[in-house]
Amino acid sequence: MKNFNYSIPTKVLFGKGKVDKLGSEVSKYAYKVLLVYGMSSIKKSGLYDLIKKQLSDFKIQCFELEGVDPNPRIESVYKGAEICRKNDIGLVLAAGGGSVIDCAKAIAAQTKYDGDVWQDFYVENNLEELRDALPVASILTLAATGSEMNGNTVISKMDTNEKLGIGHHKLRPVFSILDPTYTFTVNKFHTAAGVVDIMSHVFEQYFSPDKSGYLQSRLMEGILKTATHFGPIALKDPTNYEARANLMWSGSLALNGMLSCGKESTDWATHAIEHELSAQYDITHGMGLGILTPYWMDYVLSEENAHRFVDYAKSVWGIEGECEMSIARKSIEKTREFFTSLGIPKTLTEVGIDHDKFEIMAERAVKNGPLGTMQALEKEDVLAIYRMAL
Ligand code: NZQ
Ligand code: ZN
Repeated sequence: MKNFNYSIPTKVLFGKGKVDKLGSEVSKYAYKVLLVYGMSSIKKSGLYDLIKKQLSDFKIQCFELEGVDPNPRIESVYKGAEICRKNDIGLVLAAGGGSVIDCAKAIAAQTKYDGDVWQDFYVENNLEELRDALPVASILTLAATGSEMNGNTVISKMDTNEKLGIGHHKLRPVFSILDPTYTFTVNKFHTAAGVVDIMSHVFEQYFSPDKSGYLQSRLMEGILKTATHFGPIALKDPTNYEARANLMWSGSLALNGMLSCGKESTDWATHAIEHELSAQYDITHGMGLGILTPYWMDYVLSEENAHRFVDYAKSVWGIEGECEMSIARKSIEKTREFFTSLGIPKTLTEVGIDHDKFEIMAERAVKNGPLGTMQALEKEDVLAIYRMAL
């Protein structure tokens, strides 16, 4: 196992009724907050009213930025930062899914930065310049990204079809409230996309060519089993607390940094390939991953790395057999079948995407070098995966 430092400082308040702690938690940091939220879900669920009441009970002044898009736009970031600067905001409070939380993190960084976060951080990755940010807190309403416990933020610039992510420890939420009952209203499509995203975060860390990481692999298999068990239950019975709770905590654990501690290598190629799809076509991240992942698996599987698929096959799907390659292939088929059973399309064609932009997407996906470790993917490999997914 490799040396590592482990510090995941986000305080998590998990469970039914935990929003009641919002006022007391916020008041530890600020008495002026910017509440950031999406289109309509928090108003429909009643969460918005509860937040306002909590803040007002603690005499916390609340400014608002509403209408953050799924695949959040840089324009919302600039708008939020302007409100923060003008009103001397002390904390950015996100209430929503990953898009809202990611946007809140970017606002927190932009408020304390004189330059342009888009150009300097997202495009040029000059993260040593990111020295300060407002504290961010979140109330999570969708189990998927893990943004509630990590320092990542992914932002889109639609006029140039770019979707770029950064990660910085200053952007980890200081606290996150995870009440599974606020995910009861997530529709089937976004529930399914969330399950796929959670599984994909695990795959990206699980599938690596090295043979180390025994403990990490077992932890990851636990999350994969949980997602495959409770995903279908949440789809069938959206108000099933155990299902929603297990998915919610799985999402946080899948991408809070713990799983890859001590691992020799991780992959992350599928995410890079998917982000280009979302950048060009504004599709839902989890759906894009669901389409691409089985094709990526087909493409990178080899005699040398089949042992990873065999572990996955045996542990998550209970597949047994003698021939490693045949077990591995069965596990890929199982993955495809599972995603399809959640209602995720199997091909890009089904979601109206053709080969038109494959060249530019493949080129951009590898602009910082080959992707992944299971197999280092060059532009031609990425193109091949897009074509397989047609
Ligand atoms: O806008 P509202 O009305 O809130 O509706 C949202 C949105 O339409 C809806 N929703 C959220 N909670 C709901 C709900 N509807 C009913 N009831 C609720 N309780 O769901 C839709 C999708 O929301 P969004 O926040 O976009 O989904 P998700 O959490 O999957 O976030 C996706 C974004 O996160 C990025 C993705 O690329 C994408 O931009 N990612 C962020 C990561 C991170 N920060 O670590 C890692 C991921 O790999 C990912 O890249
Ligand atoms: Zn993801």
